[in-house]
Amino acid sequence: MLAYQLDTSEEVLLQPEDLIISKTDTRGHITYANRTFMQIAGYEEHELLGKPHNLIRHPDMPRGVFRFLWQELKQGHEFFGFVKNYTSNGQFYWVFANITPDLNSKGEVKGYFSVRRRPSREAIRQVSEIYQKMLEIEQRSSGQEAPDRSLEFLQQLLQGQGVSYERFVMRLQAASK
Ligand SMILES: Cc1cc2nc3c(=O)[nH]c(=O)nc-3n(C[C@H](O)[C@H](O)[C@H](O)COP(=O)(O)O)c2cc1C
Repeated sequence: MLAYQLDTSEEVLLQPEDLIISKTDTRGHITYANRTFMQIAGYEEHELLGKPHNLIRHPDMPRGVFRFLWQELKQGHEFFGFVKNYTSNGQFYWVFANITPDLNSKGEVKGYFSVRRRPSREAIRQVSEIYQKMLEIEQRSSGQEAPDRSLEFLQQLLQGQGVSYERFVMRLQAASK
């Protein structure tokens, strides 16, 4: 068992070599979790399998990010993004996630596949600020519309900077570690 370093704010830091891997069915229910996932999130395999992936959802994550994630997956695209997750004992960890459709031999979507690695600290710094603003927008908007409003904010922000979402996250991840 590896010892994961904690800072005072109870953050679990991934090591550079860590890869957290999970698979889900088409509804986002977990069908596979690797050992690193279990160790970092603090769950046994039987506590994860069959559970919705929002089991580890952190309240600091805006709903607009997940709205975008599912929009991309439903269109057959892959998703890249920075996600803050909860561990089973209430700590948190940040990841740089890639999620792709998982196809069967006929090319039909049988679920989704996610690989996550350590994000750059610069990414976390910038993304935390943006997510905070998205959360504020969601708190001011009515239930159903809230994720659309916060996603619009993100898209306008990036448009203003003249970058696509994907380029934005890739640049952040490539920033000094
Ligand atoms: C393969 C895959 C991996 C996911 N990984 C995460 C994750 O690490 N953390 C998370 O909060 N949501 C993850 N999600 C998204 C969740 O399914 C869910 O949409 C999200 O937690 C928001 O919860 P909600 O849809 O109930 O609002 C993942 C989805 C898929 C398909």
